[in-house]
Amino acid sequence: MNRTVLITGAASGIGRAFADIFAKEGYDLVIAGRNLEKMNRMKEDYEARYHNTVTSVQKDLSKDGAAEELYDEIREKGIEIDVLINNAGVGDYGRFIDIPWQKERDLAGLNMISVMRLMHLYGSDMERRGGGRILNVSSIAAWEPGPYMPMYYASKAFIFSLSQAAAKEMEGTGVVITCLCPGPTATNFEKEAQMKADNRMFTWFRPMSAEEVAQEGYDALMKGKVICIPKFRYKAFRFVSRFGSEKIKRDLTCIVNTGRKHGS
Ligand SMILES: NC(=O)c1ccc[n+]([C@@H]2O[C@H](COP(=O)([O-])OP(=O)(O)OC[C@H]3O[C@@H](n4cnc5c(N)ncnc54)[C@H](OP(=O)(O)O)[C@@H]3O)[C@@H](O)[C@H]2O)c1
Repeated sequence: MNRTVLITGAASGIGRAFADIFAKEGYDLVIAGRNLEKMNRMKEDYEARYHNTVTSVQKDLSKDGAAEELYDEIREKGIEIDVLINNAGVGDYGRFIDIPWQKERDLAGLNMISVMRLMHLYGSDMERRGGGRILNVSSIAAWEPGPYMPMYYASKAFIFSLSQAAAKEMEGTGVVITCLCPGPTATNFEKEAQMKADNRMFTWFRPMSAEEVAQEGYDALMKGKVICIPKFRYKAFRFVSRFGSEKIKRDLTCIVNTGRKHGS
């Protein structure tokens, strides 16, 4: 029997690249997101090419109870999940108090609550069965406060901390939890987050491809690594950032996100 992977946000970017890798590796796939048409095209393509079973589930994971609904729908189909890729996520752009509340609430629902809930549900199932793998997509944004993308940076810090704590607690159970921290990656993310031209994130740092990021994440997950930081320059950045003061970090991120050192 094939192993099955659940990938959230599989229709584009890093999630799509993960779906390509797992499909090639012979997994059955459950792909979840809002764009059913796109996911159904992926299903047809993978099933024709790899003869695996692909199930697409339309779900807006920013909404209350959406993760539970997804879990129940998958269980009702009799599917057991061996690998969970918690990938779906969005960015915000602007001053915290200027961003509409509903947008921030939805970001929190998607980037934190759905990731936490799915890890809680599937982590328990996997522990009961004696094994499984979970990969949560965080970001290099986890390591500093993010003026002008405030909730995004905070949400990724939350995932970075929670993933490591849960990974430690699961030692010896057969359940592996990996936190993937990519730097800027060429996907729809920049456009979806409505980043302004002043943002230097994608010009100062040459974006990696979604395929490179997903491959590094996949390899780390299979090796059982707790943290995966694709590319040497971001590993070096992580090391150096430990020695900077919090003031230097928030000043620098403000410059990266807006091109200027001062707020307002
Ligand atoms: N690109 C970067 O520079 C970068 C860097 C570090 C980390 N990341 C992280 O990588 C992950 C993937 O992002 P990406 O760069 O690949 O961007 P992307 O191409 O915009 O992909 C985001 C995915 O999330 C799904 N999604 C968005 N809102 C959703 C919702 N409400 N419910 C369910 N699914 C939703 C989208 O699918 P549907 O439209 O079908 O819903 C899409 O497949 C995110 O967690 C992001 O924070 C990205």
